[in-house]
Amino acid sequence: MLARERIVREIHEHGGWISFARYMELALHANGGYYASGAGEPGAAGDFVTAPELGRLFGRTLARQLAQFPGLPILELGAGSGALAETLLGELDVEYSILETSAALRSRQEARLGRKVKHLDRLPERWRGIVLANEVADAIPVHVIAWRAEGVMERGVSFQNQEFHWQERPATGGLHEEAIRIRVPVPYESEISLAASAWMRALCERLEHGLILVIDYGFPRAEYYHPQRSTGTLMCHHRHQAHADPFARPGDEDITAHVDFSALAAAARAAGAEVLGFATQAQFLVNCGITEVLGQANVENALVYAPIAAQAQKLLSPAEMGELFKVLAVGRGIAAGRGASAPLLGFSRGDRSHAL
Ligand SMILES: C[S@@+](CC[C@H](N)C(=O)[O-])C[C@H]1O[C@@H](n2cnc3c(N)ncnc32)[C@H](O)[C@@H]1O
Repeated sequence: MLARERIVREIHEHGGWISFARYMELALHANGGYYASGAGEPGAAGDFVTAPELGRLFGRTLARQLAQFPGLPILELGAGSGALAETLLGELDVEYSILETSAALRSRQEARLGRKVKHLDRLPERWRGIVLANEVADAIPVHVIAWRAEGVMERGVSFQNQEFHWQERPATGGLHEEAIRIRVPVPYESEISLAASAWMRALCERLEHGLILVIDYGFPRAEYYHPQRSTGTLMCHHRHQAHADPFARPGDEDITAHVDFSALAAAARAAGAEVLGFATQAQFLVNCGITEVLGQANVENALVYAPIAAQAQKLLSPAEMGELFKVLAVGRGIAAGRGASAPLLGFSRGDRSHAL
């Protein structure tokens, strides 16, 4: 069934209203959804390009951080086209698993990577190793909240005259509790991802020893709920164009929200894990030695060097992915911080964990 029909049916079955989080779940991840159908494969031919899709520079630089933990297996969550796995397997001799929620994307990853990776059907009960999630957290469903003079409202979705509409109800339960802790000027609209926090908690609870790296666009809480960001962070991507109407093409385009990294850090700590580092993507990649990786390219040959330099520009420039994208490291049993025996390479300078 198409995502749109499925959403309409569910709205009717639930008395005319569903939460935006449920709408996003159906539009992206349920049968017929954007990722579930395989339409959401990133790349030049898709709707958006991720860091691993730009070329191998991102993966080769990230590999230098992972090389600090030889022997630890890697579990990649949401591997998209499999580009990052392919690059990392070219750099590291490591056991590599993937957990991918989209059956269509999993088949493409299997075709591309063959027996070099093992696909898991669910999170392992216990994990000793590294977990990687690049641009996965932003696809996890969010609730949409409106802070108004009359109180905290949840913005959900109704369907009238053949169109989806926003409809507000008073926020209740855990969502209300979470929303009233956030101090914003009214009126104000934004998102809260209870599911992203639950996801991080589940990852950390299963992590016996090792490191989780979450790479995505987003902010620490004070910036996320900044007075000037009063209309939230929801964004849709269709054929490399961004827009802000999540009702335009459910199932046929990406719907995302920026990541509240403070919420992820809090969830990790609640599960007994430690925050090991938080930095902009640019700072993380520079710390990992992206300039040395660049230097290994043939700088004499412009035909070779120009595309690699263009990747570096995209990954590092504050106007592109350098500042908006962040890297959060959490872990258990891994030394971190100044003076520790083995600080994480990627956070050796410019660590902003204090801002979380
Ligand atoms: C925006 S794409 C990013 C793909 C890839 N990591 C990259 O950087 O190119 C999001 C990916 O995460 C998958 N995904 C979404 N939610 C997930 C979850 N909770 N667990 C595992 N994979 C998930 C999607 O099916 C898709 O493969």
